[in-house]
Amino acid sequence: MNKMKIVISLIVMSSAVVFTACSHKTVSTPKAADAVSLSTASITEGEKTYKINCGKCHELKDPSEYSLKEWAPIMRSMARKAHLDDIQKNNVTAYVFSLAKK
Ligand code: HEC
Repeated sequence: MNKMKIVISLIVMSSAVVFTACSHKTVSTPKAADAVSLSTASITEGEKTYKINCGKCHELKDPSEYSLKEWAPIMRSMARKAHLDDIQKNNVTAYVFSLAKK
């Protein structure tokens, strides 16, 4: 559980850096498995996965209604609800982060 919290905060921190720096598309953290790939391919795949899996229980939410900080815990619980695997979770996270409220 604690490890999960650290992973999520790493994701949020690294992504914040990427968005402000606007130079790299892939986030690397000390552990490769913790990185969120923000490549265009991930975002494109994430959008598809989002549209298929994230409107089952409620209307599809508008990614721009939430900030990165809000999305991190939401994705943690929603990825579980939607039974996303790690890659799908990465891609959906990349998609919502790319549109998140600034
Ligand atoms: C199994 C049903 C289910 C699936 C699948 C699901 N959600 Fe949800 N979602 C909920 C429920 C129930 C709530 C409201 C209660 C809550 O926040 O847990 C919710 C709330 C939300 C909210 C609002 C949170 C807030 O705090 O305002 C967002 C955003 C969201 N979901 C995004 C997603 C995304 C993205 C996916 C796909 C990865 C997804 N949901 C898949 C059931 C689901």
